Amino acid sequence: MRTESITERLDTAVATLERHGQAHLTDGLESVGTSDLESFVTQVESIDFAEIATLTSVGASAGSIPEDLQPAPVIPRHPEGEDGFRAAGEAMIRRGEIAAFTVAGGQGTRLGWNGPKGTFPSTPITGKPLFRVFAEQLNAIDERYEIETPWYLMTSPLNDAATRAFFKDNNHFGRNPASLLLFPQGVMPAVDDHGRILLEAPGVIAVSPDGHGGSLRALARSGALDHAASRGVRHLSYFQVDNPTVHAIDPLFIGLHATHPASSGEMSSKMVPKIAAGEKVGVFCSVAGRTQVIEYSDLPTEHANATTEDGSLRFIAGSIAIHVLAVDFIGRVTSEKSETSMPFHHARKKVPFWNPENRETVVPTEPNGTKFEMFVFDALEFVKKGLVYETDRVEEFAPIKNADGGDSAESSGRLQTERAARWMESAGLKIARNDDGTVNGRIEITSATALAAADLAGQLCPEFSPGGDLLF
Ligand code: UTP
Repeated sequence: MRTESITERLDTAVATLERHGQAHLTDGLESVGTSDLESFVTQVESIDFAEIATLTSVGASAGSIPEDLQPAPVIPRHPEGEDGFRAAGEAMIRRGEIAAFTVAGGQGTRLGWNGPKGTFPSTPITGKPLFRVFAEQLNAIDERYEIETPWYLMTSPLNDAATRAFFKDNNHFGRNPASLLLFPQGVMPAVDDHGRILLEAPGVIAVSPDGHGGSLRALARSGALDHAASRGVRHLSYFQVDNPTVHAIDPLFIGLHATHPASSGEMSSKMVPKIAAGEKVGVFCSVAGRTQVIEYSDLPTEHANATTEDGSLRFIAGSIAIHVLAVDFIGRVTSEKSETSMPFHHARKKVPFWNPENRETVVPTEPNGTKFEMFVFDALEFVKKGLVYETDRVEEFAPIKNADGGDSAESSGRLQTERAARWMESAGLKIARNDDGTVNGRIEITSATALAAADLAGQLCPEFSPGGDLLF
C-alpha cells in the first residue's frame, strides 16, 4: 500500500519529468481537480521514461532486414499423416489442454465503429457481433468434446469497460464467466517528432495500446497465464477479433504444432498464399533456420516481386495472425529473469494533442506523432522451430478492418457466404451461382450446425436446391 501523500507523489513525478526532459507534461495542471491529479501522477509513475528515451533515439526503430532472408518452409494444407495429426490435436482438446485467446485491444480506427470492434455486426444475414461468433464456436467445441474451454480475451484500458458490459448484457453468450477472463493490455505514450510525450488534455498523457505483441506480457501480468496453468491448459489458440471465419480451435493445426517434427511446440502460425506481390500482409521468412515475419512495408521490393520457376511468388507465405502458443513458452518470454524482450515498432500517426498556448485540442490532418507497438509475431525470434502451416483464404481469412471497400463487412460477408457455399457443395448440395461464379444470395451457417465442411455430411438433402438467402 502507498504511504506517500498525493503532494509527495506529485513532487516525485514532476522531478522525474524534469529529469527526462518531459516537464511540459505539467502544462495546464493547475486547472485539474484532485482525482484527475491523482490519475495523472499514476500515469507518470507507470511510464518507463528510460525506455521512451531509448525508443526515440536515432535509429532505434525495430524492423531492420537481415541479409540472409529465405522463404520459410511451409507445411501444406493436407500434410502427410493429416489424420494422425488431427487425432493428436483432438486428444489434446478433449483433455482440456487448449484455451482460446482473442486479442481485442486495438483501437479499430479504420473501421470507425462506435464501440469495441468485437461488438461489430459481422455475419452476412443475422449480423452477429464478432464476439458472439467466437463464443458460439467455443460453445460448439465444448459440446463436442465435453469440456469447458477457457477463453482469454485481451482488451485495452480504452475499451475494457465497454467490452465487459457487452458480455454481461449478453449473458456472456452462454459461456461460464469463471472460464472467461477479460484483461486490459498495457499502453505506451505517443511522442512528437522531438521525442516529447504528447498531452491529450491537461493532466492526461496521450497513450495508446502497446500492440498485439503486448498480449504476451498482458497474459502474464493479468494472471491469465497462472489461470491457464491451474486448469492444465498447455497451449493457447491465438486469433484476432476481426476475423469471423477463423477456426477458433483447430484440431489439425494444434496437432501439427504439438507433434510435428518441424515444430518445437512453442509457437506455430497459419499462412495463406499471397495473391499479389504488393498485398499488404507480413510474410513468413526464414533467417539462419529460424522463422520470422517481415512486415510488407519492410520486405525489399526485389524479394516481394521475386518468383520461382513455376512463376509463383517466392516469398508467398502471408501471415494471417493465427497462432498456437505454448503456455510455458509465453511464461519464458515474459519472465522478469528473461534475457528476451520484444522490440517496439514505430508507427507515424495523427495523434490529437492539447496545445497549452491557446488551451485547445488540435486534431491533426497529417501524421504528427509516433506510437509504439509490439507485434506478436516478433516472439518467433525466441522459437527454436516455428512451424508454418498453409490454410485456405476462403476457409479462414475474412477480416473486417475497414468501413468499406476491401477487408470490410461487405467483403467479409461475401467470403463467409462463399465458404458456406463450398461447405454445402462438398456435402452434395447444389448452390445457385451467378454467371461470374459468385453465390446468388447470402448463406450463413451457425457453429451449432457445423464447425467445418465435414460436419455437414448427412445433414443436407441434395435434392433441395436453395435460392436467395439461406440460414442454416
Ligand atoms: P489491427 O492492426 O488491425 O489494428 O489489429 P486495429 O486497432 O484493430 O485497427 P486500426 O489499425 O486502428 O484500424 C489487429 C488485431 O490486433 C488487435 C486488434 O484488436 C485486432 O484484433 N490489437 C491491435 C490489440 O489487441 N492491441 C493493439 O494494441 C493493437
